[in-house]
Amino acid sequence: MNIQIINGPNLNLLGVREQSIYGNTGFETYLAELQSRYPNLTINYYQSNVEGEIINKLHEVGFIYHGIVLNAGAYTHTSVAIADAIAGITTPVVEVHISNVYKREEFRHQSMLARNCKGVIAGFGLDSYRLAVESLMVSGE
Ligand code: DQA
Repeated sequence: MNIQIINGPNLNLLGVREQSIYGNTGFETYLAELQSRYPNLTINYYQSNVEGEIINKLHEVGFIYHGIVLNAGAYTHTSVAIADAIAGITTPVVEVHISNVYKREEFRHQSMLARNCKGVIAGFGLDSYRLAVESLMVSGE
C-alpha cells in the first residue's frame, strides 16, 4: 500500500516554528517513527511552500497511490485550486492539521478542501498523521 504525505507551507519549519502550537519535533523524526511502525506500508513524504507544486504532486500520485494525507497549512483556508485538484483525482485524501484549528482564530475554522476530502483529522499534534494513515489502511483493506 502506497501512501503519500504532503505538507504545505511553513511545515518545513516544524520543530522550530511556534513550538507552543506545533511542538518541538521535526517532521523527518516523526516520519521515521511512523515508517518503522508500519514497515509494510510505503509512506512517501513531500513538502512544498508553493501552491502549484502541491497541486502537481496531487496530480502525480492521485491516480496511482492508495491514499494521500494532506496538511495544506494555510492554503487549507484559501485555496480553490488545491480543492479543485483534490476533486479531480481518484485517490482518497485525508485533510490533517496538527493543531485544533477550531480552537484558534476564526479564519482557520473554514476549510476550502474538506468537502473534497474523505475526512478531516485535527488537533492531535503530529499523531494526527498516524490517525490519518490508519484511517486509510482501514478503508484500503
Ligand atoms: C495547520 C493549521 C493551519 O491553520 C496553519 O496555517 C498551518 C498548520 C496545522 O497543522 O495545524 O500552517 O495546518
